[in-house]
Parts: sequence; structure tokens; C-alpha cells
Amino acid sequence: MNKLVGITRNFSSSATQNAIKTVTVIGGGLMGSGIAQVAAQAGQNVVLIDAYPEQLEKAQKSIQGNLTRVAKKQYKDDTGKIESFVKESFGRIQMSTKVEDGVKSDLIVEAIVEKLDVKQELFNKLDQLAPAHTILATNTSSISINEIGAGIKRKDRYGGLHFFNPVPVMRLLEVIKGDHISEETYQAMMAWGKSVGKTCITCKDTPGFVVNRLLGPYSAEALRMYERGDASKEDIDIGMKLGAGYPMGPFELADYTGLDTNKFALQVMYEKTGNPVFKPIPLLDRMVAEGKLGIKSGEGFYKYNKK
Ligand code: 3HC
Repeated sequence: MNKLVGITRNFSSSATQNAIKTVTVIGGGLMGSGIAQVAAQAGQNVVLIDAYPEQLEKAQKSIQGNLTRVAKKQYKDDTGKIESFVKESFGRIQMSTKVEDGVKSDLIVEAIVEKLDVKQELFNKLDQLAPAHTILATNTSSISINEIGAGIKRKDRYGGLHFFNPVPVMRLLEVIKGDHISEETYQAMMAWGKSVGKTCITCKDTPGFVVNRLLGPYSAEALRMYERGDASKEDIDIGMKLGAGYPMGPFELADYTGLDTNKFALQVMYEKTGNPVFKPIPLLDRMVAEGKLGIKSGEGFYKYNKK
């Protein structure tokens, strides 16, 4: 991959200005590539890191495709402008398989697998390698950010930045305050969120934060309703779209975000809160065990053409 090597860009420290201008995203999956895209679109220099070159190849294709969708919306049929928007935005993204290539940025956002020990190990490494001014953030959706950052020294320059899928479209960013975040870091994170086009809300380090804490019971109750045979999944989906104005019904959304992600989020919220609404749902457990994970596996509650 042509962009994989030779990162020579000069990352000037913005410690004196407190503004985040350079960003590293670790994890080239759906969320990580979306975060890299919105930062690049906003004119920021980005390093996107993933240990697997094939994941970076996929990220490259998805970012270019999604930048084109954004550009088409903005520039309609002006192909020249569309092409230069995509080229310029994508040109701001460097890709690498080595974490060391991204440690000098003003902000590092982690968007890797939802496993506490793996995230802790990464943050401990970043804490050692990154310059003093660098802010570290996790995009975790369900794990406690205080637990993830337990081993780092710069707890004042650490917090949560929780994006929503699809990142280029969803307008919200949850800025999560860890127990030791400084006001300066919090303000810098809020300002950065705004600079990448998001409306920021703030939440303490509580299970599920704001949105997933509310989406969890909604999703769980929909699954139980279907499991009991009260209504078909199709009718429940139609009900919530036409009766509540949601863009997707709960089963379409579960397929979209991934049933494994859904299961993990419910499990963490149950462990942390003990609220029976988050109790394991046999239907969900069974489907995940069978590999029916939603769009990404080709089948969840509905069937999809695998890309
Ligand atoms: N990048 C850029 N643009 C995109 C895009 C992407 N990845 N996906 C869709 N779009 C654009 C399309 O180009 C289209 O633009 P247009 O209106 O100008 O034509 C617009 O978004 C709508 O897309 P589509 O026509 O393809 O499809 P829909 O109208 O069905 O919208 C949707 C798709 C935006 C995904 C909508 O169904 C939706 O908002 N669904 C709910 C998503 C949601 O709830 N997300 C949160 C999940 S929870 C979460 O993420 C938390 C985490 O912790 C798991």
C-alpha cells in the first residue's frame, strides 16, 4: 500500500495553543476509519494505525467511498470538486501498521477491539511513547474509561470520545469524563469534537454513557418481545420506524451495529448495574454462537448480500 510507509510529516506540538490539530486513530475498523475520515474532512492531519495491512486496505476503500458520498452531497454534479475534495481529504491521512508512527499527534483516539486487557496494554504503551502534551482518548462504547486508563500516568490528559455508527453521518459525540481529567483537556476534547462537525454532550464514566444506556433496554425489550412471539421482528421494526420516527427498527439496528457488539454492551451493563433489563437474552446468545452477527456476517435477524 503506497501510504503505508514513510511518515515524514512534521508534527508540531500545539501544547502552547491547546488546540488539537493532529490526530492519530488506532484501529482501522468501521469506527476507526470513520473517525479518521471526519478529522481529515475537517482539514486535520491524521495517522490511521492498524496492525493488519489488509484492514488498512479495507479502511482505505471505505474512507474513499464515504468521502465520495459526502462530496456528492456537497458538490452535487460538479465532478471536479468532488474529485479534489476526496483527493485532498484522503491525502491528509497517513496509514501505518506501527503504533510508533502515530505517537506524536496532539490527540490519539483508540478504536480497537472491546477487550479491557488489550486496551490497557495499548494505553500503557502510548503513555510511555507519546509526548507530554498528547491527549489520549478511547472510543469504547461499554468498558469503563477509568479502568482502561488505570495504568497510565497522564490521567489528566485522558478521556472518552464515543462516536456513533456511521461516524460520518451521526452528528453526536459523547465526551466522557474520567475521574482525573483536567478542565483544559475536557475543553480541548469538546472543541475538537466541534471542529470535526459533531455536537458534543458530556457524561460521567457510567455504564453505557448516555445513548447506549438508553438504547440497551430498548433493544433488549424488543428482543424479548420477539422471543415471546408477541409480534414479528418485521412488525416491531415497522412499528418503531413509523410510530416513533426512528430511522431503523431495533432488529435492523442490531444487525447494523452487530449482534456481538449488542450482546457485549448488554453484558457489561448488566455486570455493572445489576439491572435485570440488561440480563442475557437466550435468543441473542444463540444467534451470536451461530455466527449470525448481522450485516458484517451476511446474516443476523435479516439476510444480506455479503460484500
Ligand atoms: N458515510 C457517509 N455518508 C453516509 C454513510 C457513510 N458511512 N452512510 C450513509 N450515508 C449517507 C448517504 O449517502 C445518504 O445521504 P443522502 O441523504 O444525501 O442521500 C444518507 O446518509 C442516508 O443514507 P442511505 O440513503 O444509504 O440510507 P438511510 O436513509 O437508510 O440511512 C442511516 C442510513 C444513516 C444508517 C440511518 O438508517 C440511521 O441513521 N440509522 C440509525 C443509526 C444509529 O442509530 N446509529 C447508532 C448506533 S449505536 C452506536 O453506534 C454506538 C456504538 O457504541 C455501537
